[in-house]
Amino acid sequence: MVNLNVNFAGLELKNPFIAASSELTDEFDKIRWAEDFGASAICTKLAFLEVPFYARPYHIFEKGGGFYSPSGHRLGVEEAQELIRKTKEQTDLKVIANMMGPGENLDGWVKLAQMLEEAGSDMVELNMSCPNVGLMAKKMNVDVTDELGAHLGKNPTLAREVCRAISDGITIPVMAKMTPEGPCDVVAEGCQQGGAAAVSGINCPMSLPGCDIYDGGKPLYPSTHNQSFAGICGPWIRPLAFRHVAQMRMKCPDLPIAGGGGISNWQQSVQMVMYGATVLTYCTLFYTDGYKALPKIEKGMREWMEEMGHETLDDFRNIALEHIVTPQKVDYFDAYPVIDEEKCNGCKVCVDLGHCEVMSFDEKSKKAHVQLKDKCYMCGVCYWLCKRKAITMEAV
Ligand SMILES: Cc1cc2nc3c(=O)[nH]c(=O)nc-3n(C[C@H](O)[C@H](O)[C@H](O)COP(=O)(O)O)c2cc1C
Repeated sequence: MVNLNVNFAGLELKNPFIAASSELTDEFDKIRWAEDFGASAICTKLAFLEVPFYARPYHIFEKGGGFYSPSGHRLGVEEAQELIRKTKEQTDLKVIANMMGPGENLDGWVKLAQMLEEAGSDMVELNMSCPNVGLMAKKMNVDVTDELGAHLGKNPTLAREVCRAISDGITIPVMAKMTPEGPCDVVAEGCQQGGAAAVSGINCPMSLPGCDIYDGGKPLYPSTHNQSFAGICGPWIRPLAFRHVAQMRMKCPDLPIAGGGGISNWQQSVQMVMYGATVLTYCTLFYTDGYKALPKIEKGMREWMEEMGHETLDDFRNIALEHIVTPQKVDYFDAYPVIDEEKCNGCKVCVDLGHCEVMSFDEKSKKAHVQLKDKCYMCGVCYWLCKRKAITMEAV
């Protein structure tokens, strides 16, 4: 009997599915959709004591890959408190309040966390991944360079001290959100030492969209005159998220992790758990496909668990980690491409590779043909590119 319940750093969740902090969660009516479609928890949109500057949400899409989000709607603390109160009163969702303190003012971080706890949050999520806030180490009596600029999440020492102050100042669990711009595993360990009960990640790495080649390199976005560097999210960042979650799990075996970044279906959700995630977060998927994507993920995961004989997520969490080694320890066996002529449609994708002489095209049969087998170094590119799955790699 499949049971998706998870205890996440003390929070009893009916399933591991969480809507990540974004404009998915900045208004109550949208939060209600998360509940309607089965999420167990939401991370509310980033809250500040005082919102530092006006930013309108705008997004630049590239089909199939993801999208760039240079800015968004941020919540002032009263607005966040109201949202949290309403969500707690009118839904059964667990509420994780995403927040960022006022730069160097550590007391301000604590005050904000206290106010979000007071409003009824079940957990706070410290946003250590936005490039807009700098912290002054000196004022925190931490022996590191004075000015840290944007990314608190790049610095394990400071991250630890922020976690320590907030963990000491509130009674609900503290989660720290990691940036892939820094060494997530080292920072996560620092946060755990500082009292963080969990970590989440990854947030968006910084990027830069393309520009208009017919209009002097101006932004592609239709209603801005200029642009900033932009966080990028969605399928593009998934391999990065897998890497960071796996590395955090390896470094911090007991630390609960909310794993997310580019997860788009149930198979990738399972993979994220296999790499060490305790629970799962989704953002871009709900933007692009709506919350109706969530019941599909739940159904797929349940059916797969039944098929595999898994009762809980614990049965398969972390199991992919034992197959990760350093490059010199990768254990190869020899295998060569074999073409199924029935399936091959002669598209030549495997013949036209820039790095490989193995395949040729047989003009008579109009099929690909393995001609120079000895030149094959088993990279598998032809195998992956063949849309008709006509190529298998067979052991010799
Ligand atoms: C429009 C937008 C707004 C976001 N706002 C926040 C935020 O307020 N706080 C935060 O910690 N992360 C924020 N994120 C990051 C997401 O919560 C998530 O970590 C990231 O998008 C990666 O997940 P995904 O690939 O599933 O989208 C935002 C992402 C997007 C796209």
